[in-house]
Amino acid sequence: MEVSFNDVKYTYPGGVEALKGITFNVPTGQSLAIVGQNGAGKTTLVRHLNGIFQPTSGTVTVGDWTTAGHTIAELSARVGYVFQNPDEQLFARKVFDDVAFGPRNLKFDEEAVASAVTEALEETGLTKEAQSHPHHLSLSERKRVALAAVLAMKTPVVVLDEPTTGQDHNGVRMIASIVKKLREANRTVIAITHDMDFCAENFERVIVMAQGEVLADSSPENVFNLPEVLAKARVEAPQLERLASSLGWKSHPMNVDAFVDNLEAKSR
Ligand SMILES: Nc1ncnc2c1ncn2[C@@H]1O[C@H](COP(=O)(O)OP(=O)(O)OP(=O)(O)O)[C@@H](O)[C@H]1O
Ligand SMILES: [Mg+2]
Repeated sequence: MEVSFNDVKYTYPGGVEALKGITFNVPTGQSLAIVGQNGAGKTTLVRHLNGIFQPTSGTVTVGDWTTAGHTIAELSARVGYVFQNPDEQLFARKVFDDVAFGPRNLKFDEEAVASAVTEALEETGLTKEAQSHPHHLSLSERKRVALAAVLAMKTPVVVLDEPTTGQDHNGVRMIASIVKKLREANRTVIAITHDMDFCAENFERVIVMAQGEVLADSSPENVFNLPEVLAKARVEAPQLERLASSLGWKSHPMNVDAFVDNLEAKSR
C-alpha cells in the first residue's frame, strides 16, 4: 500500500513548528529509513500516518484514504505503528494480551488471533515470555513486545520508530530479518533510526530530515555520500562507508558483502 505526504505542515499547540512542508510518497513495498538529529520532526511526521496527528495544513494519504477522513481505529487496520517508547504502547498485564490486543480489535477470530500472536512472538524471540508481565521485562524486550504487537496485526504498512535502540547484536539482527520479511511480503516499511549501519544494510531509500524539513531523499549509497547534508543533519555515515572513503575508494559499499566484493576486485 502506498502512502504520501503532500506539503504537510504541523505546529504543536504550544507553537513549535515541527514540520515545515513535507512532500514525498512511498510506493507499495518500499523500505524507507528516516534519519536526522534529535528534534528533527521524524516522530511527528510518522504519527500522521495513523492519525495520531492531523496536519495543520497539507494532506497525508494511506492507500486511497486521506487520513483526515478516517479515525485512528480505521487507520490502524492499514498502518501499524511501533512507538519509540514501548511504555506508551503497552498496557496489558500479559505479553500475550498486549500482542493480541490489535488483532482482537481488528476482529480477527480467536483462532486467527492465537496464530498471529504465536507467529509474532516467535519472530521477535519472545515465545517464552507470552505469559510474562511486560513490566518485568527489560526495555529491549518491551520494545520487541511493542514490535510483535504491530506485526500481529498484519497491516500493509508498518512504521517502526527507533526499532534498534537498546537492542544487542542479536536483537538488531532479529529486527533486520523482520524488515527483510516484510519487504519480501511486499509490505511498506518506514523506519526511523539513529543506527546508520542498520539503515545502510536494510533499506533501499533514506530520507534525511533536519528542523522539520527534508534535506535529502535517495538511495543509501547516494545519501551517505553527501557530507554537507550529513553534517547539517548531524548524521554520521555508516562504518563501512567511512572505512571505504578513508581508504580512498570511489565505491560506496553499504554492507559487508559489497565491501568484500570490492576488496576482492581490488586485490585481483
Ligand atoms: N508534545 C509536544 N509538544 C510540543 N513540542 C513537541 C512535542 N513533541 C515534540 N515536540 C517538538 O517538535 C519537534 C520535533 O520533535 P520530534 O519528536 O518529532 O523529533 P524526532 O526527530 O522524532 O526526535 P528524536 O530523534 O529525539 O526522537 C522538536 O522541536 C520537539 O521539541
Ligand atoms: Mg522521535
